[in-house]
Amino acid sequence: MYVPEVFATLRDIAATCRTVHSVKRDLKGAKKVLRDRLAVHPKSSDMVLELLQKPTTGRGDMLALVQTDPALAAAVMRAANSVHLGYARQIGGIRQANVMLGETLVSGLVAGRVADRIFDKKPMDYPEWLWPHSIVMASTCAVLARRTAIRPDEAYTLGLLHDVGWLMAASNHHELSDHDRSHGRLGAEMLTRWNFPEMFVQAVHHHHATVDASVSPQARLLIAAHAFAAELGANGPEASVSVIEAMHIMHLDVRASTILNEIESEIVTQTSILEPAL
Ligand SMILES: [Fe+2]
Ligand SMILES: [Fe+2]
Repeated sequence: MYVPEVFATLRDIAATCRTVHSVKRDLKGAKKVLRDRLAVHPKSSDMVLELLQKPTTGRGDMLALVQTDPALAAAVMRAANSVHLGYARQIGGIRQANVMLGETLVSGLVAGRVADRIFDKKPMDYPEWLWPHSIVMASTCAVLARRTAIRPDEAYTLGLLHDVGWLMAASNHHELSDHDRSHGRLGAEMLTRWNFPEMFVQAVHHHHATVDASVSPQARLLIAAHAFAAELGANGPEASVSVIEAMHIMHLDVRASTILNEIESEIVTQTSILEPAL
């Protein structure tokens, strides 16, 4: 190797070391201060309060609201996967969790999470892009999953919760210096503590990874979904592969415009519950 090439290689190694060091520092700092506390989006919160004031709470309405908010969905999923409730297997989808827990318990959990926000002395600034990004990603994952063996309920939930590490940091007023590399791992660590299925945890951990043979179908789904979310202008600061690469990753043989149309109508369906608040 020529001397300039050696220097270039050393520079690359040094840059990698700096990145690894900064990710480690992020995670170390985050672990010190972060609690398993996720903020509910103010609009979801208002809608929940409105729903709870009605004499009869329709089960469908509460579930529809849970499906639009990462913190509410995480609370329901955490309860469904709680070892203390003694269920034999782990749950990967919100709808399935809702059936398992029942209307009364889900409403109680949701009310508890919203009450936390009301009494919160130091409310967070919810990152503006994160809420729409989570909903668009959930809808996209559900649409893409219909062309795979992944269950749409699990895909939707994965899409809604994939950036839970970022939400946890923001909810605790913690600034991560290297979001791209830290938030997947941070989210995965939290979901492990909450007894989420391993495939769910791994997909969250690797949702910004480079696609190779070691990447699971669920992580591929998230990586591909970011391309369509970006196309719809809903990626915030997150990077993504191109739509063409995403089509290749998912082995899709339809037009990209067909997929985008399906995603848009899925978003309309999923967010119809929020219309009065939007
Ligand atoms: Fe994302
Ligand atoms: Fe992300």
